[in-house]
Amino acid sequence: MILILDLGGKFSRYLGRRIRESKVYCEIVPYSYSIEKIKAKNPEGIIISGGEPNDVVSIQKMDKEVFNLGLPILAIGYGADIMAEIHGGKSTEPKNNDYDFEDVNVDKDSLLFNGLEEKMPLWINKEYVFKTLPKTSKPIAKLGKDVVAIGNEEKKIYGVKFHPEIETSDYGKNIIDNFLFKICNCEQKWDMKEFIEESIEEIKKQVGDKKALCALSGGVDSSVAAVLVHKAIGDNLVCVFVDHGLLRKKEKEQVEKVFRDEFHINLISVDAEDRFLNKLKGVTDPEQKRKVIGEEFIRVFEEEQSKLTDIDFLVQGTIYPDVIESGMDGKVTVKSHHNVGGLPEDINFELLEPLRQLFKDEVREVGRLLGISSDIVDRQPFPGPGLGVRCLGELTKEKLDILRDADYIYREEIKKAGLDKEIWQYFAILPNIRSVGVTHGERTYKHTIALRAISTKDAMVAKWYPIPLDLLRKISTRITDEVPEVNRVVYDITDKPPATIEWE
Ligand code: XMP
Repeated sequence: MILILDLGGKFSRYLGRRIRESKVYCEIVPYSYSIEKIKAKNPEGIIISGGEPNDVVSIQKMDKEVFNLGLPILAIGYGADIMAEIHGGKSTEPKNNDYDFEDVNVDKDSLLFNGLEEKMPLWINKEYVFKTLPKTSKPIAKLGKDVVAIGNEEKKIYGVKFHPEIETSDYGKNIIDNFLFKICNCEQKWDMKEFIEESIEEIKKQVGDKKALCALSGGVDSSVAAVLVHKAIGDNLVCVFVDHGLLRKKEKEQVEKVFRDEFHINLISVDAEDRFLNKLKGVTDPEQKRKVIGEEFIRVFEEEQSKLTDIDFLVQGTIYPDVIESGMDGKVTVKSHHNVGGLPEDINFELLEPLRQLFKDEVREVGRLLGISSDIVDRQPFPGPGLGVRCLGELTKEKLDILRDADYIYREEIKKAGLDKEIWQYFAILPNIRSVGVTHGERTYKHTIALRAISTKDAMVAKWYPIPLDLLRKISTRITDEVPEVNRVVYDITDKPPATIEWE
């Protein structure tokens, strides 16, 4: 395994993904991780990820002993600054944050570039290079006259100013692969088929003939977790699906069909629409809505759980990005994200989180291998509070039904046009405004529907997706024709930032 010491830059996750794609297991831990803990993980090598330049805190907090462990190290971006400084070198102070692909010349005698092309485009800031080199390292790559990578071949310690994890081609990946296979001698053992077999064995051992409960939302993570645990313990798994009245059209039926009819999982489906809408009466503040929905979900879940006896385990669809986020310090929360299936704090269960180690696309692969249909496995993200954050103002059944119908038409047309896999996330919003229109010569005063479609890698930043105009016209016409309460459709052309993906 490879250990990634995360300096807080935005690239650690991509790095993690690249390494896993090469079938090597890796973990991302904060830069302040202690030497004892690092040793206990017994890694084949260490990668120090990029961070924010001039972040003096990290350089102080990072244990310099890392460089004396005798392990291969690849330090990237700001990680390379730290490596250089510790060994008596220095980098320039970047004047700007402009990164782009630039042609870098590499030294093929270095193991890091062994067998690769001499010149390759790599993601780098031209202004951010090594100024003085540590005596212990040699220059191994240049951008023009500037040194952008250094290496100590004997100690297998490398520092690179470019980001090999950012790529549009295989150049960066080949460099990472050289580090993994030629420098750290890793083996390609990380495989989802094996992961499934090992997980099933582990769950069997851990749970024995006790019982487990799973809050199933129908989303990718909880669905895959449920099916995996079901493979291990069969009918000793009980799933609870709460219909809070904020689901999309036909979603409840789909979940029931897949889990009850196809997988024969013990499924309790709770109709809680009325009680959620009652609790939400008069609530218009977005954060307050999220809070009410989250709390009510826990109440419903607790009630169902109290009807069951002998439950010892709670299955959670926690995945690796959740683990990374909760384990790192200094993260800013823009919205209080709530996962349906969220854990009541005082609950008396042991946790079963079989997907804790996996990235999202690994979870999808596991789902596919377990035979879960593409409708579920390739589902786009759907927030825990559901349509509650897409229906602005007070939530009423009438408004939610309008939104459900419009959203269904939108999704149907995107799928028909073959864009459902191409667009990362798309959905309708009911902005809670009415406007004047005209139908068959008569004045109308009805609701507006907004359409949102975005492209993104990780939902942190997003670009609005340009749906072809004739398709937008078709969707708009169908919505105003088929949803009688709507007389206007608008298209959201805002990136994130400054907007968020959801409207609330
Ligand atoms: P925003 O709106 O913050 O959303 O740009 C980023 C991504 O997260 C999803 N989202 C949520 N997912 N619980 C979730 O599980 C939530 O409370 C929640 N709020 C937003 C959103 O759909 C987008 O993909």
